[in-house]
Amino acid sequence: MEFSKIKYEDNKYILNSYKRFDLAIKSGKGSTLYSVDDKKYIDFSSGIAVNCFGMADSLWVKAITKQARNLQHVSNLYYSMPQIQLAKMLCSKTKMKKVFFANSGAEANEGAIKAARKYSFDKYGSNRYEIITLKNSFHGRTMATLTATGQDSFHQFFGPFLEGFKYAKANDIDSVKSLVTKATCAIMLETVQGEGGVLNLEEDFLKEVEKICKKNDLVFIIDEVQTGNGRTGYFYSYMEYNLKPNIVTTAKGLGGGLPIGAILFDAKLENTIGYGQHGSTFGGNPIAAAGAISILKRVNDAFLEEVKAKSKLIFDTVKTFKNVEDISGKGLMIGVKTSLNVDEVVNSCLEKGLLVLKAKDKIRILPALNISYEELEEGLAILKEILK
Ligand SMILES: Cc1ncc(COP(=O)(O)O)c(C=O)c1O
Repeated sequence: MEFSKIKYEDNKYILNSYKRFDLAIKSGKGSTLYSVDDKKYIDFSSGIAVNCFGMADSLWVKAITKQARNLQHVSNLYYSMPQIQLAKMLCSKTKMKKVFFANSGAEANEGAIKAARKYSFDKYGSNRYEIITLKNSFHGRTMATLTATGQDSFHQFFGPFLEGFKYAKANDIDSVKSLVTKATCAIMLETVQGEGGVLNLEEDFLKEVEKICKKNDLVFIIDEVQTGNGRTGYFYSYMEYNLKPNIVTTAKGLGGGLPIGAILFDAKLENTIGYGQHGSTFGGNPIAAAGAISILKRVNDAFLEEVKAKSKLIFDTVKTFKNVEDISGKGLMIGVKTSLNVDEVVNSCLEKGLLVLKAKDKIRILPALNISYEELEEGLAILKEILK
């Protein structure tokens, strides 16, 4: 189908909730993609941190096709081997105790919010339900996670929103302290605010938040939906700082391209949710789980060192480019602030065959974690040319 027809039919039949670029991808291999009109693109976006082993990764394809031939779905009323194997891997890599599988980041966060409130309800009764999140955060698009998202622009149109959310300033521990009351049950944050503009939280701040949680028996929730599964150069980003969250949520890269989310619980929370108190028809789907296993098997120490090396290459190279004012982020989750108009830069990159994203006023680079050095250099050369 020609691009003009694709665009016309998309507009006609699909809800207009996404402002799409003029591009329809047909296929790809690794971090090289091809449009329907056979133009080549270097991908620095990986489906917004999802395709962490790039497009059509052969081991992942083998794992999901093998699983699809045997068993594509089984109700969560029965045991499912890929789910168990994946949960076991997640627990052994994180030392967390139990896993609940969902289908997306928002769904994982939704479950985390429920679990935090249930923990507090069981121990302290019904008046301790407030959750502190951070300004500029992003936690998803469901009603609870929209409310948890600390950005006013998301708190419009769909009200009434949920009660019991307060927003502290990122990297300002006094702001967090001032919001903790007898009604507080949890603090939830991302270690790098991705959608909020690739803003790094400081180690001291994170450690102080952990202390506040410990002291007040609050549930410490870390949203690793975007930062997780190797993205920052650590298996989960909190591991860089030796934090001990009670709940970790993840999704995106975990599935390598299929929808899966997970909530990881530590010993404090592992028995909080009981029979019938949470569930999901598709959560932990065998095909998605088999794909995730093939991904996690390869996110080992040597692989994470490669992620860090590629990150350093990008930071070192991009800072020499014209008009660059600042570079933020961790690992292969990078924000570049320039003196140029960000939309124009993103569009020019697209025209020249490079897919980059935008986060607030920054160009956002989120390549596949296994992007080759050749693809990386090809993409950086295009970015250099545009920033001139
Ligand atoms: C930190 C974070 N949490 C949650 C979400 C929501 O994930 P999903 O779109 O899979 O629901 C996102 C998505 O960008 C995210 O970056």
